[in-house]
Amino acid sequence: MEEIRIGVAGLGGRGIHWMRLLQSVPGYRIVALCDPITATHERALAALKDSGGVATYAAYEDFLADSNVEAVALTVRSPRQGALAAQALEAGKHVNQEVPAAHFIDDCWRIVVAAERTGKVYQLAEQTRYLGVMQAWHDMVAEGQLGRVTFVEGQYFHYYVSQFFWEKATGTFYGPTELAEHPEAEPTWSALMPSIHYLPHELSPLLYVLDDRVVSVTGMSTQGPSSAHPEIPQPDMQVSLMKTEKDAILRLAASFAQPQPPRDYHWYQIMGTRGSVEWRRSARDRPKMWLASAQMHDMAEVDWQFQRTDAPAEARGSGHGDADYYVHAAFRDAVMGTKPLEFDVYRAMDTAAPAILAAESIAQNSKLLSVPDFRPSAARPAGSMPAES
Ligand SMILES: NC(=O)c1ccc[n+]([C@@H]2O[C@H](COP(=O)([O-])OP(=O)(O)OC[C@H]3O[C@@H](n4cnc5c(N)ncnc54)[C@H](O)[C@@H]3O)[C@@H](O)[C@H]2O)c1
Repeated sequence: MEEIRIGVAGLGGRGIHWMRLLQSVPGYRIVALCDPITATHERALAALKDSGGVATYAAYEDFLADSNVEAVALTVRSPRQGALAAQALEAGKHVNQEVPAAHFIDDCWRIVVAAERTGKVYQLAEQTRYLGVMQAWHDMVAEGQLGRVTFVEGQYFHYYVSQFFWEKATGTFYGPTELAEHPEAEPTWSALMPSIHYLPHELSPLLYVLDDRVVSVTGMSTQGPSSAHPEIPQPDMQVSLMKTEKDAILRLAASFAQPQPPRDYHWYQIMGTRGSVEWRRSARDRPKMWLASAQMHDMAEVDWQFQRTDAPAEARGSGHGDADYYVHAAFRDAVMGTKPLEFDVYRAMDTAAPAILAAESIAQNSKLLSVPDFRPSAARPAGSMPAES
């Protein structure tokens, strides 16, 4: 197989970005496009170097029925995005899916079981696990430089309200201050979803660094609607505490409705019994490290960056510190059978389920909830749904 015939479903900002990458990373040919908002089709076709023979669909079912589509690039934003991924696997397509993997635990299971039954490649296209800084921290933890990891923090604070309302017919976005002029605008899924669902860019890199999975979760939230923008149903701040299989405690937070100082959207730190590392707090700040064994009287600044020092030329400028390239290279190699996915379907669900259950915990007055392990076992042979669901 020289080229993967891929169809892109979801033609918003991210879909168009993926189309650019799928035309620059070798090994792909875009053969179909899909979005229920037909106004998006023209812009998407215009983003193709050669749109000849590229089919366009408004209905996802018709898109999946196109036998020319071998693989689906799923860049939708929807409460149903997990079900849509599973549906594509069930239709016999390989799936490369934008984050988060799902918004319901049942959809996580449906993806896992469909991937097991069909043998098709499923990848969650979470890219921050490929960042240079995460590679460095992964290697430090694996070498034991931080000792036993006990406490880990991650946050995604992104003031994102400009895309919290839209005119559904055209996909035109509005922010809360534009609502008076556009009374027809409705809240988007970004404004309605529990913000704590959006932890893939925390759980994916941090669980990669720790080589671990979350086993239990509790959550807490401020009241909705937002205090910063009362028009927005989403609360301003949601926080989760999680325990991992290796006995580390994670404190993760997500916020999209309240203003933030200009800085990276993500912040991370890892503390162990023999050292700690942390990402920069602001644009003027620097990442830091402390090692108990190194006669250090303070944390030292380290020039870790998102960009990797070993990035190939074709990764440069792909987005998110060059990391966007890696998910398309990894998916291509897995579909072509040259390299299996490191970030497999089980690790992908390890990033989705704790976040979904954090929101469930919030709904149940911070009740501590157990996170299922999606890997096959004696109780759940591969290809079968778990007994209790
Ligand atoms: N990895 C990252 O860094 C990153 C960054 C931004 C967004 N995202 C993710 O990418 C996805 C898309 O984000 P976006 O900003 O482009 O969203 P968007 O709202 O701009 O566009 C999403 C598009 O999906 C379409 N859609 C919805 N249901 C569909 C269906 N059943 N079939 C086909 N199309 C459907 C919508 O009509 C819309 O045009 C989201 O899941 C988001 O979480 C990831």
